[in-house]
Amino acid sequence: MYNTLNNMPEHHHPMGKYVLPEPYPEINVSAKNPFYAGLLLDDYASQKSELNAINQYFYHHLRFKDVGLQDIAELVVAISITEMHHLEMIGELILKLGGDPRFRGFQNNNNQYYSGEYVYYGNHVLEMLSADIEAEKGAIQQYRRHVDQIQDPFIKAILNRIIMDEEYHLKLFMEAYRKYSAKS
Ligand SMILES: [Fe+2]
Ligand SMILES: [Fe+2]
Repeated sequence: MYNTLNNMPEHHHPMGKYVLPEPYPEINVSAKNPFYAGLLLDDYASQKSELNAINQYFYHHLRFKDVGLQDIAELVVAISITEMHHLEMIGELILKLGGDPRFRGFQNNNNQYYSGEYVYYGNHVLEMLSADIEAEKGAIQQYRRHVDQIQDPFIKAILNRIIMDEEYHLKLFMEAYRKYSAKS
């Protein structure tokens, strides 16, 4: 979806400072593997997943915008859109591995369909930002575990590139948290 855009020089990118300029590796797998597809379903749509990050950051975008916090509102929606690009890449991998990218986790989630109850909604700005910081930390941890468990070099390269984005998101959320807590 945003592959072409994300491979453009940073200053030409409509999401500018919110995305890293490094290109994404080719979306490919060495062979079909239902076990790997199951691991990736947890990154795709479990409680700790790209789908949940998209929804949580989007909800926080609405709340921040509503109280006039334009800069934080813009940050979280840009990151939500990047998570949608991750969702697309993980979904394509699941299909190539022979899985079905319906919205449900696998191991973490006992094969349950995704629920809007997984979102950490929150009521205060710092509470929402710290939930977003925790979501990124959890994503990094889970992706690192999957990089260790998955022996396919194509998938490892893609997950490692996604981890770079999640580390950048963590940095941006922590900066926003510090900036806002200094103000309040
Ligand atoms: Fe992500
Ligand atoms: Fe992220």
